[in-house]
Amino acid sequence: MDGQSFGPEIDPETAVPRIDARAKVTGEARYAADMPLTNVAYGVLVTSSIARGRLANANLAAALGVRGVLDIITYGDADALAAPKFGNTAAASIAPLREPRIWHDGQIVALVVADTFEAAREAALRVETEYTVERPAATFDQAGTELLPAVGNTQRHKDDPAVGDFAAAFAAAPVTVSADYSTPTQHHNPIELFSSTCVWHGDELVLYEPSQNVHGFRNELARQLNISPDKVRVVSPFIGGAFGSKGPLTARTAIVALAARKLNRPVRCVVSRMQGFTTATYRAETRHRIALGATPDGKITAFSHQAQEVTSRPDNYVVGGTETTARLYGYGAVQTRVELVKADRNTPGYMRSPPEFPYVFALETALDELAEKLNMDPVELRRINDTMHEPIKGARYTSRSLMACFEQAAAAFGWDFPFPPPGTARDGDWLVGRGCASAVYPTNTAACTARVRLTADGKVQVATASHEIGTGIRTVAAQMAAERLGVPLDAVQVAMGDTNLPPAPVSGGSNSTASVCSTIIKACDAIRDRLAQFAGKAGTNAAAVAMRDGHLVFADGRTLPLADAFNSGRTAVVEEYAEWLPKGVDADAAKKLYAGVTSFHGGTEGDTVSFALGAEFVEVRVHALTGEIVVPRIVGAFSAGRIMNPRTARSQLMGGMIWGIGSALHEITEIDLRTARYVNRDIAEYHVPVNADVREVEVILVPEQDDDVNPAGVKGLGELGNVGTAAAIVNAVYQATGRRVRDLPVRIEKILRV
Ligand code: MOS
Repeated sequence: MDGQSFGPEIDPETAVPRIDARAKVTGEARYAADMPLTNVAYGVLVTSSIARGRLANANLAAALGVRGVLDIITYGDADALAAPKFGNTAAASIAPLREPRIWHDGQIVALVVADTFEAAREAALRVETEYTVERPAATFDQAGTELLPAVGNTQRHKDDPAVGDFAAAFAAAPVTVSADYSTPTQHHNPIELFSSTCVWHGDELVLYEPSQNVHGFRNELARQLNISPDKVRVVSPFIGGAFGSKGPLTARTAIVALAARKLNRPVRCVVSRMQGFTTATYRAETRHRIALGATPDGKITAFSHQAQEVTSRPDNYVVGGTETTARLYGYGAVQTRVELVKADRNTPGYMRSPPEFPYVFALETALDELAEKLNMDPVELRRINDTMHEPIKGARYTSRSLMACFEQAAAAFGWDFPFPPPGTARDGDWLVGRGCASAVYPTNTAACTARVRLTADGKVQVATASHEIGTGIRTVAAQMAAERLGVPLDAVQVAMGDTNLPPAPVSGGSNSTASVCSTIIKACDAIRDRLAQFAGKAGTNAAAVAMRDGHLVFADGRTLPLADAFNSGRTAVVEEYAEWLPKGVDADAAKKLYAGVTSFHGGTEGDTVSFALGAEFVEVRVHALTGEIVVPRIVGAFSAGRIMNPRTARSQLMGGMIWGIGSALHEITEIDLRTARYVNRDIAEYHVPVNADVREVEVILVPEQDDDVNPAGVKGLGELGNVGTAAAIVNAVYQATGRRVRDLPVRIEKILRV
């Protein structure tokens, strides 16, 4: 299909094009800031030029003199707003304009509103701010930072996984590796900028804002505005890239809503690329100390993972990936610890595969170092330590196909061991190296609701307030409904991205396909049962077991056309509203969902553990004279339970691996240590892979059936692809050059031994 291959045994018939593809490519799809509205006023933010201190004065005279300026909201004008509540739905507790305190560089200090964007921007440049300046601490190792254990100081990281006596096991291990790794600050740069458009209809607010969590936004925004959540509607039908950055509500939105209420006029604020770096979230820099002990034949007997992450002064944000690294292999003794370093920075947040990207980078690089010490094929090292039971609680993996992924990816890649000595394989002026690493991501699910309607003419409407962040969720939802109700795909319409629809969880943590499809199954099965009841009253007694090709199918094999079932019920429409809860979820999970709070289940909780897994192999070439690094070839094989749509799955995984190339070689937000200020705050200077950096990328989908994980059998793969890529690249760079780079990104100066 279109020259795409998905791996053996994957049904290409399910690789249907996205049902919203045409709308997207023709411009018919409306993104939040494109919504046509009349009489819109334009808002532009003014942000602080210091990282720590107080706003002493804002002189607005010059700004107010700009023609077309309608209002300027600054410190003291927003006291009607409640402070954001850091946690499930708000990005940070920082309450700009309500407190004079400046917590970080680029904090909002004013919103200028004008008749035109140009006037607002000019006036924003003319706002004169004065500050009382304090010396900031930018990051690790700076005077004034504060160190805290994550356990006890954060909601998310409840314990540091550990088992056995690590110190004794490590001391007794004949072969050991111990090394430090780091990952830098990174910023999501979705092509669609951050924006809020607020329209009041009397006391009711409509917010158009790209969102991964419309019900979360509704509830948190209503709280900040001191109004009832049912007075707030959030509309976000399409999102032009999110990656976690549009998951939590940021402080901007309530300020824009306030301006719109004050002016009695719609206000639209599109945040500049540069201001997006400081008014939204980002990936915090991390440090890792890994220690591994093993027997000479490669059995790991001791594993330690100690990590530190930077967070902001007011909020203890943590990613805490030891939950995953501690469970990836059958280690003997395990010890872990996560600590936070508080600095004068904006509060970090989720960015694609939040914990796994940095934490698995450290582990998978250390494993490569261990394989080298053992003089062992890195694939063999992973085979020896493969396990069906995670080591911390001994919980069973609901399914685990890691080695099948390694086998298929290695075969497609043409992997050979032993390697030539590091730095010796050459092709002309290019040094050639190969490396591999595991990819892993926990299977999260969350309480979800959906309404499914089937009409007598065989048409289906699915409604659930999930979010199309580019993953193809509308398409897989339609596929599941079509399959379950026995109708063609083009008979199904799907509505998403609006708080007028039944709530779905935040579209994060790779949970949406599993949660939404499990909910659709529940609704469709209820429709089937009701139709069977109608048929039963008309004399067809058995329970229907399925719906297929426009028919109810009974246990004894008899079938009944849908139209006959509808006639028996004297109805033209059957509609079911389903609330689906993951196994073992708290009793109040559904109630919380309506309040906009998502709680994830699955992954490492419960009596079993569930992870999607993969193996990535890369070839790198490093120029012997200039140190230039290219990645000509990358092959990934992935297993993630049921693949709803190989085309969208492949696209997610390929995008993830390409991001992995960026995270290994390009991406870093540089910080001026004196001012705690981001230096390269645009996508001219913040580098991501471009076409010239991306050569051959091959995705193999390894079939896997997991009936335990959730009713849909789906493990989720939106974040899986870019886990492991950076380690595979670093491992290949080592083979090419003999230079072990433990601090991302790998750059020329680290190769040239300056
Ligand atoms: Mo993803 S970073 O969980 O949106």
